Amino acid sequence: MKTSSVTLKKAGQFKGQIIPPPDKSISHRAVFFSSLAYGKSRVSNILRAGDTNSTINAFRMLGVEIKEISDDSLLIDGPGFMRLKEPQDVIDCGNSGTTARLLSGVLSGHSFFSVLTGDQSLRSRPMYRVIEPLDAMGARISARSGKRYLPMSIKGGGLKAITYKMPVASAQVKSAIILAGLFAEGDTVIEEPLKSRDHTERMLTAYGVDVDTKGLRVTVTGGSELTACDITIPGDISSAAFFIAGVLMVEGSELLIKDVGLNPTRHGFIEMIKRMGADVKVLDKKVVSGESTGSLLCKYSDKLKAIKLTKEDIPSMIDEFPILCVLAARATGVTEIRGARELRVKESDRISSIVTELRKMGAKIEEYDDGVAIEGPVALNSCNSLQSYGDHRIAMALSIAAISAEGESVIHGTDAVGISYPEFYDTLEMLTQ
Ligand code: S3P
Repeated sequence: MKTSSVTLKKAGQFKGQIIPPPDKSISHRAVFFSSLAYGKSRVSNILRAGDTNSTINAFRMLGVEIKEISDDSLLIDGPGFMRLKEPQDVIDCGNSGTTARLLSGVLSGHSFFSVLTGDQSLRSRPMYRVIEPLDAMGARISARSGKRYLPMSIKGGGLKAITYKMPVASAQVKSAIILAGLFAEGDTVIEEPLKSRDHTERMLTAYGVDVDTKGLRVTVTGGSELTACDITIPGDISSAAFFIAGVLMVEGSELLIKDVGLNPTRHGFIEMIKRMGADVKVLDKKVVSGESTGSLLCKYSDKLKAIKLTKEDIPSMIDEFPILCVLAARATGVTEIRGARELRVKESDRISSIVTELRKMGAKIEEYDDGVAIEGPVALNSCNSLQSYGDHRIAMALSIAAISAEGESVIHGTDAVGISYPEFYDTLEMLTQ
């Protein structure tokens, strides 16, 4: 279903089971690495949504043959090391920060000229964080407003390795430098302030590249070539989080979420809701294509309690902030989320977006520069003017808030869910009928 506004009323219980959509971060990387590898890679259970389509289009423009062998599997014929072609036009990364930032690393390794742009949201997101290290490696990059924003032009090639201490924990920045490092002379060393998601490091190993990770330090050696391989993508914990929250809030609900990614650098939301007293059990843990997966059995939990999150807690639940705020409104006590300034430069300013919208629903929420404090429990009220700010995760978080509130709510800008979860409203309807 694709609409720009959706009306929702208090839902019945969540019942049954779902397999969440394929993980967005891992899907992007599968397209990146298959396109850089030599030979044919089959990517199964890949997310087909706005963001991943931006990555697929980008690599097609760079001369990679990408065949759709079913709705959710691709056959990618990688031309091999340094064999991408100069794009004939500007590459539009749409809404996808992962596409733009990881691509800037890849393109820095190639001597041709390329230009990246994106939609209005992406054009306002910080790019200097990738340009600074890529410049230092020798790429010639120009970008709008003193190298801060897209559009960005890149003339790469002749890179030298660097040792780089990252000022912010960001998997996109880390991955951009790792990718550029593959094309640089020498060993590139990256040090993070806190551990961000490690899908790049894990998946590169599957493509035959030796990535040395010691704590917060990652080292890659220039000239390492990728070999084609077959990858199966697990379900997206960040998409599943919305329904998990719905189950915890709607009395009598019980849901089994199958085949979902449980990578320790991504499962902060599960840890946090357990701390809040949620009834959630992990079952059938296994490893698929180098990533931990499993099933989650979640039940309505009437006694959620407030928790405190500090900056160390943020990276592993960075995308779950909006839905955690919704849950916090239902928990007893004051939930504090601090050290989360990064949320201000996501698809929208997620701190300001969620504070403004949850206040409309009666939440007691205070805004800090780097987070929020939410006092609960509050029974949220319905509201007919909720806004997504064009942000998929704000749209979905507000939808879950709406189905737990008395009365009818209207959320505007819900087409944004197509960025990561095109079937979100169909699944919501199916589970709560
Ligand atoms: C992502 C990393 C995170 C996350 C984003 C996807 C990735 O961004 O918020 O949704 O695929 O590497 P940052 O690297 O900016 O923290």
